[in-house]
Amino acid sequence: MGERDRDRKAPVKAGRRGTGMPGGARGLLVRLEAEVRRRLETTPACHDWDHTHRVRVNARQLLRAEGADPLVVEAAALLHDLGRAVEMGDQGKTCHAELGARLVPEVLCDLGVTDATLIRRVADCVRTHRYRARRGAPDSLEAKVVYDADKLDSIGAVGIGRAFHFAGRIGARLHNHAEEATAAASYSREDTAYREYLVKLRLVRDRLLTATGRRLAERRHRFMERFFRRLAEETRMA
Ligand SMILES: [Fe+2]
Ligand SMILES: [Fe+2]
Repeated sequence: MGERDRDRKAPVKAGRRGTGMPGGARGLLVRLEAEVRRRLETTPACHDWDHTHRVRVNARQLLRAEGADPLVVEAAALLHDLGRAVEMGDQGKTCHAELGARLVPEVLCDLGVTDATLIRRVADCVRTHRYRARRGAPDSLEAKVVYDADKLDSIGAVGIGRAFHFAGRIGARLHNHAEEATAAASYSREDTAYREYLVKLRLVRDRLLTATGRRLAERRHRFMERFFRRLAEETRMA
């Protein structure tokens, strides 16, 4: 058996909290990254590999500042949107967070992970990254870090870019009045980037769960306020 084969089949145990990751865990993340990239190849760009990569980068910054377990956080950041393509394909009938959490054991076991606690902790982070009351709030520090890392990518300049990308993909208008936006249904022509800002993005800053996340959100929030004021001015839709 070659060295790479041995590495692929080696059982992976969780890293110790706050002490960095052992070689087995680093190897797992390399293989997990390759697997996630492959699975996200056909996902639309607002939830593609680039988004997952940005969430992982945010998560690394947050986990260092907050002292979270790096293996749980990075694995969950990589896996958090695996169910997105299915949810977008059926226009929201599937909850991608619940589907993603169900996929976690299968993906990690295929990569040689035998630590049931690690699998459960990662799956918990994936399930609660999309916070809804019936699924429960992110309760572990790791789940809060993954939640904040994902939400940070939905605000600021990147959040605006993603909102316009999504609106374009579903055929929505470039911009509309606040009354038209807030009265509109999801996936309709009035489901604009501005609607996304009004009903979701402007609320994100105050809903983040870690002190570091809230600090990083502040500048992004202020940029969105400036952008949409300017857009209203230029389109005479103030
Ligand atoms: Fe998500
Ligand atoms: Fe995401």
